[in-house]
Amino acid sequence: GIMGAMEEEISSLIGLLTDTQTDHIGGRTYYSGKLNHQDVVIVFSMWGKVAAAITVTTLIELFQIQELIFTGVAGAIHPDLNIGDVVIGTRFVQHDMDSSPMIPKYELPLIKKTFIESSSDLKEQAADIIQNMLEENHLHQLISQDELDQFGITKPSLFIGEIASGDQFISNGEKKHQLRAAFPELLCVEMEGAAVAQVCDAFHIPFLIIRTISDCADTHAEINFVEFIKEVANKYSKAIVNKLMC
Ligand code: ADE
Repeated sequence: GIMGAMEEEISSLIGLLTDTQTDHIGGRTYYSGKLNHQDVVIVFSMWGKVAAAITVTTLIELFQIQELIFTGVAGAIHPDLNIGDVVIGTRFVQHDMDSSPMIPKYELPLIKKTFIESSSDLKEQAADIIQNMLEENHLHQLISQDELDQFGITKPSLFIGEIASGDQFISNGEKKHQLRAAFPELLCVEMEGAAVAQVCDAFHIPFLIIRTISDCADTHAEINFVEFIKEVANKYSKAIVNKLMC
């Protein structure tokens, strides 16, 4: 299963499919077909934790996927991250989960876990593919110098670590500061990953979540968002998924 939180991203991946069949279920379109001779199902998850949970449960239960790859964009929380960097998530937390005082803040009720770890064997392979893609000469084959300049991307890097998700687009310094104080190791924030992690964990499906940094979760967060997805995140996702499926 290949899921994306951005419609533009999914459209470019669908272009790689052969023998495509489409199914409309629960307000989503699922594109089944072959990508480099492997059976895949590609779908746009829509935004937020519930939307992502609906989509991934459908992929698991109706399409019987064996593994999930999720790509999308995220806002940087850690000061070392910049626009154009890529994050592979190792563990996921829902930053808006709070059943205190009954249950410690951020803990998933009754599951007794705060973080869900990614169990995918594809993490190392993905890391190699992304490192390679971000090398200067390879990056220039994918994205023009003008586009890199437009988003201030100079030497993009790969980071591997913690991701937080919640049903909020983070675009102010105070909230960013709170997240950093609550989760000192946190790399970035988005709106689906921890929900995907919880569903996959419940059904014992390995999952890999890859996020491109589109903004720094501050007051400039909405600027050029759509353009960034079209010109950068889309191209990264297509290149990464295509290589992963070889
Ligand atoms: N996805 C991309 N940027 C984000 C942000 N700043 N907050 C939440 N989700 C995001």
